[in-house]
Amino acid sequence: LYGTQTIENGHLTIGGIDTVELAKQYGTPLFVYDTSLIRKRGRGFKDTFEKLGVTAQVAYASKAFACVAAYQLAAQENLSLDVVSGGELYTAIKAGFPEERIHFHGNNKSIAELELAFDTKIGCIVVDNFHEITLLKEISEARKQKMSILLRVTPGIEAHTHDFITTGQADSKFGFDLNNGQTDEAFAQVKDHEFLCLLGLHCHIGSQIFETDGFALAARKVMKKMGEWKQAHGFECSVLNLGGGFGIRYTEEDKPLEPHVYVEEMIKSVQAEAEAVKLTMPEIWIEPGRSLVGDAGTSLYTVGSHKSVPGIREYIAVDGGMSDNIRPALYDAKYEAIIANKADKEKDATYTVAGKLCESGDKLIIDAALQQAEAGDILAIFCTGAYGYSMASNYNRVPRPAVVFAEAGEHQLVIKRESYEDIVANDLPLTLKKG
Ligand code: LLP
Repeated sequence: LYGTQTIENGHLTIGGIDTVELAKQYGTPLFVYDTSLIRKRGRGFKDTFEKLGVTAQVAYASKAFACVAAYQLAAQENLSLDVVSGGELYTAIKAGFPEERIHFHGNNKSIAELELAFDTKIGCIVVDNFHEITLLKEISEARKQKMSILLRVTPGIEAHTHDFITTGQADSKFGFDLNNGQTDEAFAQVKDHEFLCLLGLHCHIGSQIFETDGFALAARKVMKKMGEWKQAHGFECSVLNLGGGFGIRYTEEDKPLEPHVYVEEMIKSVQAEAEAVKLTMPEIWIEPGRSLVGDAGTSLYTVGSHKSVPGIREYIAVDGGMSDNIRPALYDAKYEAIIANKADKEKDATYTVAGKLCESGDKLIIDAALQQAEAGDILAIFCTGAYGYSMASNYNRVPRPAVVFAEAGEHQLVIKRESYEDIVANDLPLTLKKG
């Protein structure tokens, strides 16, 4: 069980609310977020920086789960916000998110998206490539408006769950290569610009990372570059953004470190390098997505059909699937589950949880240990808070689920379930004549 989850009268509860009741009230599939756990995670990161005496911004990488209420929750917790599209930026504006704490990412931001960022006077644009530098110069000069920027660099480190690889030349679609002169060229193009204010550098080495070494090495490499610029040009970066990627526990096999450990190791590395290259310690920004909202989210489904493949597998099918959680199909991601209305019963059955979408690969969990299940039961899949709803689709014209926040015995609908009307809302009737 995660966060505030408990089992009461045989039912799974979240934030003091009976999930079986939530399923009844709002229908399924339903995402339920334990918002106090999101707050706890956010405070965990912020407190660690505070304890270390390091000035920092913790930006919620909102691609993990974006909606007006999520942005307002992030604002309540004094987090900053990482947005990666006009749509996320627009959502932030609608949420009334403090614009000076919005950071805008993306490897192909459109002119319209950049204009929206200038209109909104956001805190910072994370510049990804030379084309973007050209656009930013044109826009800022035409408007005579300043904009703070970071340069996103690819340090040649790629991290995955347990290890990282270093490559001289990182084959990545993101950022300026740190190792082949691109980053220096970008620096030369922006450093004396009248309206673009270079704050520093950004790097992000991957997602669902369990080890600290990759972060530490990336921090050292980027700091080294900052040291070079100070030496050669007397330019001091004031910000180092180390991205997100801190791993979380989806299943028993996952053994992430406590979030603060990642931060502490990064900081150690930055401090050591700052000393070595004689730099003042920059402000540190991070961008956690998954580790803020991942284990705070639970998906509720209603169990329907059951299929036996004798001697091989028992399938139970639920009323959602890859349309609300594409991660198992896309990444072979693993999850654990429970029958929410039989949560006190022993898990003495094994089922493969199938979705309802027309695709053989639409299985949410293969061979899940579960309580004996029957039609009408409520299945809860844990840890679906990151990249679940945000990657949902209308494949098969399945309406997207509703989302509820639960905290301290209260709950609130934050995203309505899509209706069939919503599904056809943008469709137009055929006007071409039959030939
Ligand atoms: N910053 C940057 C620049 C990123 O590209 C990402 C994630 C993050 C921060 C947040 O990373 P996190 O803390 O959430 O690991 N859809 C995939 C994950 C894609 C991550 C993309 N970038 C998944 O479901 O596993």
